[in-house]
Amino acid sequence: MFKWKENLSCGIEEIDNQHKQLLKLGSELYDIFKLDDEHDKYDDIMEILSKLADYTVYHFGYEEQLLETYEYPNLESHKKQHQVLVVKIQDLLKQDIDSKQSSITMDLMMFIADWIERHILGSDHQYASFLIEKGV
Ligand SMILES: [Fe+2]
Ligand SMILES: [Fe+2]
Repeated sequence: MFKWKENLSCGIEEIDNQHKQLLKLGSELYDIFKLDDEHDKYDDIMEILSKLADYTVYHFGYEEQLLETYEYPNLESHKKQHQVLVVKIQDLLKQDIDSKQSSITMDLMMFIADWIERHILGSDHQYASFLIEKGV
């Protein structure tokens, strides 16, 4: 589910590397999901949520900066899609994670898998073609 596939490549090496890092965090989440329910997952969940929160700030900031520099016309709607994932993570952090360990892990995993796939293949590939045309 969180494996890098060549079709995910957008043709810009640095962006691909950052996306690989996001997938890596996704597969760490999957590892937590696979632990049996007897296992207390609280610390692992908190750790992955904090890594995801940090990494999305970094990656989205990097993309948005680049898109601003090249005056990408769809920047605002792109930012909104980033915001959806940021808000999802913030919402989860407000929940009682300890009592809902398995459902939260599952929920976040499915959400991220779907979001990554659609956002990278759709919106990120779209801006990448624009940037490549601009000579990036
Ligand atoms: Fe991205
Ligand atoms: Fe993006």
